[in-house]
Amino acid sequence: MARPRSRAARIGARQGARGLARDAAKELEDAGVPEPVASAEVLLSELLDMRRGDLTLRDEPLTREQAALYGAWIQRRVEREPVQRILGYSYFRNLRLDLDDHTLIPRPDTESVVEAALEVIDSRAGTCRVLDIGTGSGAIAISVAQERPSCEVHATDNAEGVLQVARRNAERAGATVRFHQADLTSGLEDLAGSIDLLISNPPYVRSTDIRELAPEVRDWDPRAALDGGWDGLDFYRRIFVEAVPLLAGEADAVLEVGDGQAEDVLELGRRAGYRPLGTRPDLTGKSRAVLLRRRRPPDCA
Ligand SMILES: C[S@@+](CC[C@H](N)C(=O)[O-])C[C@H]1O[C@@H](n2cnc3c(N)ncnc32)[C@H](O)[C@@H]1O
Repeated sequence: MARPRSRAARIGARQGARGLARDAAKELEDAGVPEPVASAEVLLSELLDMRRGDLTLRDEPLTREQAALYGAWIQRRVEREPVQRILGYSYFRNLRLDLDDHTLIPRPDTESVVEAALEVIDSRAGTCRVLDIGTGSGAIAISVAQERPSCEVHATDNAEGVLQVARRNAERAGATVRFHQADLTSGLEDLAGSIDLLISNPPYVRSTDIRELAPEVRDWDPRAALDGGWDGLDFYRRIFVEAVPLLAGEADAVLEVGDGQAEDVLELGRRAGYRPLGTRPDLTGKSRAVLLRRRRPPDCA
């Protein structure tokens, strides 16, 4: 069935960018879409390949093709498709990361995980071998490899399609990341005893909470990237145990957690033999990264 044409599509060809974005934002607001102005302006600035702040400077009308495309994008946003899925890419730190239907849109929350990981790397003298478990678009692994090129960065995901996207993203960023298709850490025996820093943003939403999420997440993010089991903590339990053979004598772990999960995850880690070192907040002040350290007992060197 043909998509209904949005108001923005009908009027776009006769309007300059500022008026068009304003009308599109009104259309999104009327449809109950969150942050309508941001959606309308980001989509238009990407379409015109200009900075969002410069939209007001552009007075000439869009071409017919541009207006038609923008109208189609606004209609998709009305249907609650996230801006990044409409564009097919997302920005994360210094990176522009391609996405497909199987890759999670990297979130600003995850920047605090990267910050915490860089802090750990900087506190360790010399080189650092890093493993990012569940890499998705590669946001964490590629950022670390790009920002700390002396580290050797490995990354896993269990979905080969996801890894293809991550590999392309790393190549475009000029970052060296060794990607492995693995169920968490399975099959990485070559790395046994050598990982200094474990990083992961695992699926952590309680299975029963998924239906309550915003449509942008519930209907558009891959379930495999969200579902953390009945209490949301399945992957932490597994990671704490299954990663142990890969860890160096004294290894750090930086894990992203959902809102309200930090204490539970630190406690799970403590019971698995890791020493909780603290938490780091996201931009809104919520604890989003937990830090732990594991020292290998002398008798299993
Ligand atoms: C929450 S997403 C995080 C993606 C990315 N690291 C980020 O921060 O944007 C979790 C990722 O874990 C992957 N995943 C789920 N189960 C897995 C498993 N058993 N082994 C490896 N990766 C898994 C998913 O495919 C998804 O890419």
